[in-house]
Amino acid sequence: MDKIIIDGPCPLKGKVKVSGAKNSTLPIMAACLLSPSKFVLRNIPSVVDAHTMIKLLSALGAKTEWLSKDAISIDSTNVNKWKAPYQIVSKMRASICVLGPLMARFKKAEVSYPGGCVIGTRPIDLHLKGLTKLGAKIELKDGYVVAKAKKLNGASIYLAGVYGSTVLGTANILMASTLAKGETIIEGAACEPEVVDLGTFLIKMGAKIKGLGSPTITVTGVKKLHGAEHTIISDRIEAGTYLIGGIISRGEVEVEDINPKFLTVFIDKLIECGVEVKQTANSIKVKAKKNLKPIEITTLPYPGFPTDLQAQMTAFLTTIEGISFIHEKIYPDRFMHIAELLRMGARIMKQDSATIIQGGKLKGAPVMASDLRASAALVLAGLAAEGRTEVNRVYHIDRGYPKIDEKLASLGAKIRRVKA
Ligand code: EPU
Repeated sequence: MDKIIIDGPCPLKGKVKVSGAKNSTLPIMAACLLSPSKFVLRNIPSVVDAHTMIKLLSALGAKTEWLSKDAISIDSTNVNKWKAPYQIVSKMRASICVLGPLMARFKKAEVSYPGGCVIGTRPIDLHLKGLTKLGAKIELKDGYVVAKAKKLNGASIYLAGVYGSTVLGTANILMASTLAKGETIIEGAACEPEVVDLGTFLIKMGAKIKGLGSPTITVTGVKKLHGAEHTIISDRIEAGTYLIGGIISRGEVEVEDINPKFLTVFIDKLIECGVEVKQTANSIKVKAKKNLKPIEITTLPYPGFPTDLQAQMTAFLTTIEGISFIHEKIYPDRFMHIAELLRMGARIMKQDSATIIQGGKLKGAPVMASDLRASAALVLAGLAAEGRTEVNRVYHIDRGYPKIDEKLASLGAKIRRVKA
C-alpha cells in the first residue's frame, strides 16, 4: 500500500484549482439510471469512489466512456439489472444511492446493506422510511435490502433523524419521487450544495422540483425523464482542506474554482481564529497571521460547519496556543485521527462526541490513515510538524482527493508518494 512522506515544516504558497465534488458526482452518476438515455457529466474528480460508482453502473448494464480526463458519457439505455452487489457496496457505502433510481425505474431493487465504517454505524433507516412512504415494500434478505413496489405514489415525508438531515437519504428520496405519481413533500431535507446540484441535474432531466437548498423540497412526479448534460460543482471539502493546508503550515494559499458561499461558516471560523481571508466570486485566499486564537466549533448539517472538515480543522487547532473545543454532532465517533495526532505530539482530550485541544507544536512521526478525512488531517499535520511524517495506508485519501500529493507539491510542500 502506498504511503505519503512529508518533510516539515513546509509553508505552502500559491494557487490550487479545486476539482469536482465527489459527493455530487456519486448521486448524480446514480441519477443517470433513472431514464434509459444518454448523459454527459463534466468536472468529474479522478478519485477512486467515482471509479467505483462507474463499476457499479456498468455492473447494472450501463455503458460508460471517458470523453476527456474529467468528462464521461453514461448510456443507461440497456440497464437491465437492479442488484448492487456486496463486492461493490462493501467498498463504497455511497453505492446506496442507486436504490432510489432503481426503484423509480424498475419498481424493484436489491442493494447490499451497507455495513458500518470507521466513522460510525451509519444506518440507512431514513432512506428505507422514505421509500416505504412512497409505497415500497422492503425486506432484508441475505444481507441485502430488497425493495419492491407496484407503483410509487407521492407522499409527505419527514426525513430528518436524531443527527439531523440525511444527505444521501434526501438524494435517494428526491430521485425516487421524480417518477412517483403525484406530489412528494420532503420535510427535514438536506440543504447541502451537493443535494442542490443533484436536484439541478434532475431538473435538466425533466423533473419538477421546488425548494432545493431549503429543508422543504416539493417534487411533482413526471411520467418520464430524459438525457441531460451537466457540470458537477466544485468540491468545498477539497477546497477547505487546501485552505487549512495553507494556514496550518503558516503559509498563504489561494483555492480557485470554488464558490465561497459553500464555505460560509468555515470561513467565519477561520476569521475568528485570526486568519486573513480574501474572497472573490470563485476563489478564496488565506494567510496565517501571527497570534492565531483558539476557537470552538460544532459540526452541523449545511449550512453549519461540515463534519467532513472536522479532522482537518482538529489538526490545525493543535498548532494554535490555547484551548480549542470541537463538538461533532453528525458522527459522534468520527475521531480516528486523534490517536494518530497524539503520536505527533498533539494534546487532545476526547469526551463522548467532543474534543478539547490544547495547542502546541507537532513533531513528525509514522502514522496510519484510517478514513478519507482523517488521512487528509494527518497529511496536513505533516506539513506543520517538525521532521518527517510518514502517512501509511493512503489509499483512503485517493477515494476523495485527486492527486493530493501533486497538488500539495505544487504549493511547495516537501511531499512524496512511495509506491508499495
Ligand atoms: N443517519 C441516520 N439514518 C439514515 C441516514 C443517516 O441515522 O438513514 C445519520 C448518520 O448516521 C449520521 C447523520 O444521519 O449521523 C448524517 O448522515 P448522512 O446520511 O447525511 O450521511 P451520508 O449521506 O451517508 C454524506 C457524505 C459524507 C458526509 C455526510 C454528512 C456522500 C457520498 N457522503 O454521507 O461524506 O460526511 O453526508 O455531511 O455524500 C466524506 O466525504 O468523507 C463523507 C463521509
